[in-house]
Amino acid sequence: MKIFIDTGNIADIQRLVDIGIIDGITTNPSLLAKEPGDYRENLKKICEIVQGPVSGEVTATDFGGMMTQGRDIAKIHPHMVVKVPLTRDGIKACKALSGEGIRVNVTLCFSPSQALLAAKAGATYISPFVGRLDDIATNGMELIQEIVTIYDNYDFTTEILVASCRHPMHVVEAAKMGADIATCPPAVIDALFNHPLTTIGLEKFLKDWEKAQTVKA
Ligand code: E4P
Repeated sequence: MKIFIDTGNIADIQRLVDIGIIDGITTNPSLLAKEPGDYRENLKKICEIVQGPVSGEVTATDFGGMMTQGRDIAKIHPHMVVKVPLTRDGIKACKALSGEGIRVNVTLCFSPSQALLAAKAGATYISPFVGRLDDIATNGMELIQEIVTIYDNYDFTTEILVASCRHPMHVVEAAKMGADIATCPPAVIDALFNHPLTTIGLEKFLKDWEKAQTVKA
């Protein structure tokens, strides 16, 4: 399964990419608005750091505006993927941009019917938001299972990009269901590494080793 970082923060991206387990980046207008500097320049820098897809989202809500912004975002760097919202105009833009060979990530997906439409429109990625569904007392991971079933039934090639991951279990559940990608904020990726028994075990190994060196000396 691929792991993407859900951030526009270049320091966090560099730090996690250096470890060697990051496959791509997702951003959205809220995330990019937090970072200083020009958003196009920031996206370009991110593309130069990551050897994989980087999603940048349109802010236009009409078909024509999405097409203009989508083409412009795609020109920033060959790694760029255009993110469009799951609206009627967004699905229409997905179909048209995909037809031009531009990769599209359809975002703000909250139902299996929406995911079906994105796949039919040729989306490269569908982004179902699991955390935001959990926030309203609806099981976000059940949506992932439903999309996996639908896409498998028809061999859709659209990749399931589990978004709005809030904790490591979202990632583990996504992997068990066979989702293609989980995109996580840096803190969730950091949490994937942690286990208290690893920390305790390493401390003991090093202490025992140190003790043995003292005895031998
Ligand atoms: C996905 O691409 C979105 O940027 C993101 O996962 C949204 O997450 P949030 O619900 O934590 O804002």
